[in-house]
Amino acid sequence: MNNKVIVAGGAGYIGSHTMVELINEGYEPICIDNLYNSSPEAVKRVEIITGKKIRFYEADLLNKPILHDIFKEERPESVIMFAGYKAVGESVEKPLPYYYNNLISLMNVCDEMKKNGCRNIIFSSSATVYGDPERVPLTEESPDGRVTNPYGRTKSMIEKILADIQKADKDMNVVLLRYFNPIGAHESGLIGEDPQGIPNNLVPYVAQVAVGKREAVHVFGNDYDTPDGTGVRDYIHVVDLARGHVAALRKLKENPGLKIYNLGTGNGYSVLEVIKAYERACGHEIPYVIEGRRPGDIATSYCDPQKAFLEMGWKAELGINDMCMDSYRWQSMNPEGYGDYAHPPIALSEES
Ligand code: NAD
Ligand code: UFG
Repeated sequence: MNNKVIVAGGAGYIGSHTMVELINEGYEPICIDNLYNSSPEAVKRVEIITGKKIRFYEADLLNKPILHDIFKEERPESVIMFAGYKAVGESVEKPLPYYYNNLISLMNVCDEMKKNGCRNIIFSSSATVYGDPERVPLTEESPDGRVTNPYGRTKSMIEKILADIQKADKDMNVVLLRYFNPIGAHESGLIGEDPQGIPNNLVPYVAQVAVGKREAVHVFGNDYDTPDGTGVRDYIHVVDLARGHVAALRKLKENPGLKIYNLGTGNGYSVLEVIKAYERACGHEIPYVIEGRRPGDIATSYCDPQKAFLEMGWKAELGINDMCMDSYRWQSMNPEGYGDYAHPPIALSEES
C-alpha cells in the first residue's frame, strides 16, 4: 500500500484544486497532463500553496508507451481521471476528437492499471448524464437522460465502460462522481479556472465582466419555467468538490466495487441570483442583457447530495457567497489567468 494517486488532468481547473486537498490529507499526487487546456503554472502554484514538490509528467494519455513507463515507475495505488475535452458546443462541431480523446485516454489508463495491479479509479462524470430531468432533485437513481451532445455521451459511455470493467473484475473499485456546476477558486487566489478565449460557462464570464474585461453578461433566456425565468443550477465550490475526491479515495479503501455519487450542494440558483451574489462579492453592479435561449440548455438541474453524505461522510460546506468571493479574488489577482500558454491542436483535428 502506498499513498500515490495518479491525477490525470491534474493541471486543469478541478485537478489542480484536488491536488491541494490530496496533499493536505497526506496523499502523494502524481500529475499527468498534456497541457492541452492548462498551464504548467497551475502545478507550480499548487506547490506554492502546499509547500510540496509535485511529480509532474507532461504527457499525453493517448501515448500508450509513455503511460506504460509512468505506471511502471510510479506503481500508484489509485487513479483520479480528470483528463478529457469538456466543451459542449465544440463537441457538437468536432465529435470525433471528443470520442477519441476521452474514450481512448480512459481505456489506456484502465489497461495500464490492470497491467500494474492498480485497482482503484475515480472518474469525473457529470450531471449532464441525466439529460433534461423529468424531476428534481436528481438522485443517483434518476434515469440516465437523453444526453444531447457528444461530450455528454462520452461521460455516459465511460460510466458504462467502467461499470463493465468492474463487473468482470471484482477486485476493481470504481467511483463515478457526477459533478454539478463547479465554480469558485482556492481561497489563496493563486489557482482558479482559466478558460481560453470567450468563456462558455456562466461564472467565468461574469468574473470577466466584474473586472472590466467584458462589457455585459449575456443571459441565455428568461422564459424558462423557473421562479425568475432564468436557468437554475446546483453550483458547487471547487474546493468542496476537490474534497469530495478525498472522501472517495477513503471510500475506495473499503473495496466498495462500483459506486456512484452526485457531488453538489442540493441548492439551485438562477442566473440572475448568481449575478446578484457576484455583485455582492465584487461590490459593484454587473451589467447584463437578456438574450434568447442557448440551444441544448435545460431549465433546472440540482441534486440530492444525501448519498455522498451517508456513504462517504462528505457534504459541501461553502455557499454561493464564498463561491463568488473566491472566484472574484482569483479573477482580480490574475486578470489574464495564468497568462498565455501553448494550446496544442486538438487530437485528430481536421488539419492532421
Ligand atoms: P480542464 O480542461 O481544466 O482539465 C482537464 C485537463 O485534462 C486539462 O489540463 C487538459 O490539458 C488535460 N487533458 C485533456 N486531454 C488529455 C490527454 N489526452 N492527455 C493528458 N491530459 C489531457 O477541465 P476541468 O474543468 O478541470 O474538468 C475536469 C473533468 O471534470 C473533465 O473530465 C470534465 O469533463 C469533468 N467535468 C467538469 C465540469 C466543469 O464544469 N468544469 C463539470 C462536470 C464534469
Ligand atoms: N448562462 C448564461 N450566460 C452565459 C453562460 C451561461 O446565461 O454566458 C446560463 C445557462 O443558460 C445556464 C446557466 O447559465 O442556465 C449555467 O450555464 P453553464 O454553461 O455555466 O453550465 P451548464 O449547466 O450549461 O453546464 C455545465 C458544464 C457541463 C456540465 C454541466 C453539468 O459546462 O459540461 O455543467 O455538470 F455537463
